[in-house]
Amino acid sequence: MLGEAASPWSLAGAGAAVALLWLCAWTLQWAWWTPRRLERALRAQGLRGTRYRLFIGDVAENGRLNREAASRPLPLGSHDVVPRVMPFFCNVLKEHDYYFLRFTIDPDLAREILSNKSGNFAKQTTAGIAKFVVGGVVTYLPIENNRRIREIDQEIRTILRGIIVTMILHEVLRLYPPVVFLQRTTHKEIELGGIKYPEGVNFTLPVLSIHHDPSIWGQDAIKFNPERFANGVSKATKFQTAFFSFAWGPRICLGQSFAILEAKMALATILQSFSFELSPSYTHAPHTVLTLQPQYGSPIKLKKL
Ligand code: HEM
Repeated sequence: MLGEAASPWSLAGAGAAVALLWLCAWTLQWAWWTPRRLERALRAQGLRGTRYRLFIGDVAENGRLNREAASRPLPLGSHDVVPRVMPFFCNVLKEHDYYFLRFTIDPDLAREILSNKSGNFAKQTTAGIAKFVVGGVVTYLPIENNRRIREIDQEIRTILRGIIVTMILHEVLRLYPPVVFLQRTTHKEIELGGIKYPEGVNFTLPVLSIHHDPSIWGQDAIKFNPERFANGVSKATKFQTAFFSFAWGPRICLGQSFAILEAKMALATILQSFSFELSPSYTHAPHTVLTLQPQYGSPIKLKKL
């Protein structure tokens, strides 16, 4: 004997129950099982950090510290912005060498992560321009007349002005990188610095802290000193490079030369007709809303030349 045919409603109910079960299992896997498994794998290798908390992780604590830091502006002229912009990271670093969502302040390791072990950083243009200047002088001086020498002198001054502006822009981007940290996730197990990271580990590369680290940039790390870039970005530190404003490796910013050129053109256009200075109403309060920016804007006083 055949049983009574199932009604469309009971079929829909069964389907919904299966979908709900699947959603619960997926949520459990995503929010609890996977993070706990990754945490165990990293702790087993000696990495320390705050314990994983269901759903919120460290978001609430991060938000609280950010709000607290945002209520206190910095003194004018201070470039010690890391504790204000990344207070949670600063606290973590004081307590732990490493962290579950691993932060690394080692520029070599950061480069390796960003390069995915195969990328190469394009040579900086300033060093190339400097070589061109020297080459130009050596080639022309003995053979050209005074007029040509004066022209070359003018050209060199123009080029040097360009180099100095580039140095200034690099120093601004070092102290105030618009992208304060970069993130990468492992898509398969990877070994770095003697530690095996399973698939799904998030790396946070705190560009801002690397850029302010005295062990990398010297004791004047939080001073504005464009001279450090006199020989190009790669020679500014004892490391190969620790300047990550435009990231590094295969996903390096495609617009980096354009961005520098654009900034130079904007500056040149303004300076042709105006001089400018900071308005007395300026409050020094760098903070992040996606990118690093002045919390209360950047009012300046323009004076027509
Ligand atoms: C000062 C200005 C700029 C800064 C600091 C900057 C910084 C960055 C950084 C850090 C990344 C890498 C993000 C990551 O890998 O997670 C990036 C990627 C990128 N940037 Fe920029 N950028 C700037 C201006 C520009 C401009 C003006 C353009 C275009 C004209 C541009 C186009 C791109 C593109 C297309 C990528 C993606 C590259 C890829 O994923 O392969 N950027 N930028």
